[in-house]
Amino acid sequence: MKKIGVALLGLGTVGGGTYEILTKNREYFRKTLGLDVEVKAVLEKNLERAKSLGVDEKIVFTDISAVTANPEIEIVAEFFGGIEPARTFLIEALKAGKSIVTANKELFSKHWFELEAAAKETGAGLYFEASCVGGVPIIRTIEEGMQANHIEEIKGIINGTTNYILTAMSDEGSEYGEALKRAQELGYAEFDPTADVEGFDATYKISILSTLAYHKRVPIEKVSREGISKVDAADIKIGKELGYTMKLLAVSKNRNGKIEARVAPVFVPSTHPLASVKGSFNAVYLHGDSVDDIMLYGRGAGALPTGSAIVSDILYCAKQASHKRYPFAENVECVDKDFVSDYVAKFYIRLSAEDVEGVLAKITSVLKNKNINIEAVLQKKPVSKDNAQIVFVTDNVKETSIKKAIEEIKNLGAVKQVEALYRIEE
Ligand code: HSE
Repeated sequence: MKKIGVALLGLGTVGGGTYEILTKNREYFRKTLGLDVEVKAVLEKNLERAKSLGVDEKIVFTDISAVTANPEIEIVAEFFGGIEPARTFLIEALKAGKSIVTANKELFSKHWFELEAAAKETGAGLYFEASCVGGVPIIRTIEEGMQANHIEEIKGIINGTTNYILTAMSDEGSEYGEALKRAQELGYAEFDPTADVEGFDATYKISILSTLAYHKRVPIEKVSREGISKVDAADIKIGKELGYTMKLLAVSKNRNGKIEARVAPVFVPSTHPLASVKGSFNAVYLHGDSVDDIMLYGRGAGALPTGSAIVSDILYCAKQASHKRYPFAENVECVDKDFVSDYVAKFYIRLSAEDVEGVLAKITSVLKNKNINIEAVLQKKPVSKDNAQIVFVTDNVKETSIKKAIEEIKNLGAVKQVEALYRIEE
């Protein structure tokens, strides 16, 4: 029986879930995989937390040297999140020849090249399935299930907190603040929700997935990012009337070597499978040139779902004679010409204007002069003379053209404000 010693850095939600899976399924892994995986050390300041999970206090430490100096430990799983001290500890572990398993998307998206360089020196492994889409095996799908393909597109809901909030706004008519408060009470959103609601979390994940899929570094700075904190429930309601559902989508495309990557709230047709992904669930489409579309669906967060991905990596790592290298992750030379500078999409535009004759004609003439075809238009009976709400849905148009048109529309006398502009992803 092959013995594998593991260290867990941190016993928060996912660390605790990982400990639970490793303990309850230890015998099962012995039987089915011939691997005896034992937790040999835990780095945790809160001894009470460790004891409450049933961890023997003799293996609880606070100093990383207790892990790096222990020859029985082969694999180090990290749960601190954020950059420091995770980065320093993982580099030390790699330099000591230990393979690492992590759910830390921020660290991985920002410092992958540094981790890869340290791992290469000692031949240690880097495993990060849990960093993207929680318990859903998306990394393994890209790495192994789709290796016969050029991956051309990744599109999906990869943040559960924002999907929970947008679902509550859409299905229950909640306002943003109310839905966020509920997400916090349920433990989806953090006390400081910025990383989720402003799209940073999804940006880290789409950067990792795109880098892996395209064998080319797609740094977070090249992912255009927009969060959901400014989404008005009015647009979700109007969008529904027009047959659309709002989702925070991460979209990444690679067409003939030109990459486009972004995270933004967009409308998808309500008949699209992504529209029916509700609450805190995640779902991702992967498009390969041979396999066509694959859709993965499941829980993108939580102690046991993310713990499942961590343990899966630990077991996978334990079975490897040598570890996969990521030479492209070391390539920091990412140049602007690799990226698309303009996007083509349909757009939803909501304007507020005075209720006077000719205002619609003025707006449509700006759109006409920019060759922007209107697919749908909606105006409700104005609530007052100075507040007519007008919504346009355009045909496919370049983002730069729509932005120029919007600037001109803003300067039309009768138009008070451009209230909302969203892409429509079909
Ligand atoms: N905060 C993330 C989410 C889970 O809401 O999806 C961990 O990445």
